[in-house]
Amino acid sequence: MEKSGRLEVPVGIPGRGYSVWIGEGILDEAGAMVAEFAGVRGKCALVSDSNVMRIYGGRVRASLELAGFSVIAHEVPAGERSKSLQVVEGCIDAMVGAKLDRKSFVVALGGGVVGDLAGFVAAIYFRGIPFVQIPTTIVAQVDSAVGGKTGVNARGGKNLVGAFHQPKLVLADPATLGTLPEREFYEGFAEIVKHAVIRDASMLERIRPGARDGLSGLLAENVRIKAAIVAEDEKEEKDVRALLNFGHTVGHAIENASGYGEWFHGEAVSLGIVAALRLSRRYAGLPEVDEQRVTEILRSLQLPVRFPRSLSVEKILEAMKVDKKFSMGKMRFVLTPRLGEALVSGEVTESAVVEAIEELQE
Ligand code: NAD
Ligand code: GLY
Repeated sequence: MEKSGRLEVPVGIPGRGYSVWIGEGILDEAGAMVAEFAGVRGKCALVSDSNVMRIYGGRVRASLELAGFSVIAHEVPAGERSKSLQVVEGCIDAMVGAKLDRKSFVVALGGGVVGDLAGFVAAIYFRGIPFVQIPTTIVAQVDSAVGGKTGVNARGGKNLVGAFHQPKLVLADPATLGTLPEREFYEGFAEIVKHAVIRDASMLERIRPGARDGLSGLLAENVRIKAAIVAEDEKEEKDVRALLNFGHTVGHAIENASGYGEWFHGEAVSLGIVAALRLSRRYAGLPEVDEQRVTEILRSLQLPVRFPRSLSVEKILEAMKVDKKFSMGKMRFVLTPRLGEALVSGEVTESAVVEAIEELQE
């Protein structure tokens, strides 16, 4: 739905529904929109990382204060390593210090790292307070800010500690994507390619590498896909939301095995997508031409489709086994039989996964 230049995508979760608003310049209207749509008042913690706070923190804070909210700003270091229990504790200490209570709320301003972290803090502070997502990367605008998965990493693996906690409102301003460095800009397209592969192959034709303007429509299409899946299976209980993990089984393991930071999330997912395409050919009959087409699109988006031999396959496999168990040598794996469709297969063997990962090595 379009209202005064803004697109509204509802996330229809029974009892916990909210809207994602997408529009250029929405950042400066954050305060008024939070007041109108989030059902919150009083004090909030504005959580952001060192890059985003510097560029956008002042504008968002001013907008919230203009709308009558009292704001404490809490900055965390930029990067995946901030998704840790130690950083959660730092947020909580700051919020307790500023006397935020059960009626207060959290505003997450930044990429997926800040959204997952601040959302988790909101999920556990006073056993759960409201939060608002203001995503500023493509990953966050099309994926992580929507759907209520929050959490942090533990030594043993990615996203091992977390909670489902839906935001009250999501405000996505595509103009913020203009300040993303080149690598951070492109990594976000891995999640867009994922959505296209599992739900809407025609979207592959609408991806224009490099174009930073006119993205609102593409972002909204992606949010609609994510919102529909989340509304159908909020807590990943019906093999529907699980489809969003396409490319993530191997992707998360690569992030963990390389110690977080070497590969951006989207880059690791790109590698995971290539492995999942290979397994889809073997187990679900995906035509080779489709595997090659998607791999070429990832390449055109400056995303990796191979990784160096210095990263060991054993380490990746070890990391994968933390959240994916093999039962009698087989694991559950998301595959695509044809572009635009996905399924969860229980047939994929450990040796086939190892082969698919080995083929990713340069
Ligand atoms: P990120 O949050 O680390 O952001 C990438 C970099 O861009 C950071 O250095 C950040 O400071 C910078 N940045 C962000 N916005 C900027 C802007 N507008 N201008 C300039 N710099 C900016 O990474 P990400 O890719 O957004 O998110 C990855 C994380 O999201 C991973 O931890 C992943 O697990 C998580 N994720 C979660 C879900 C979910 O459903 N909860 C879904 C997908 C990904
Ligand atoms: N990004 C995976 C999910 O939200 O379920």
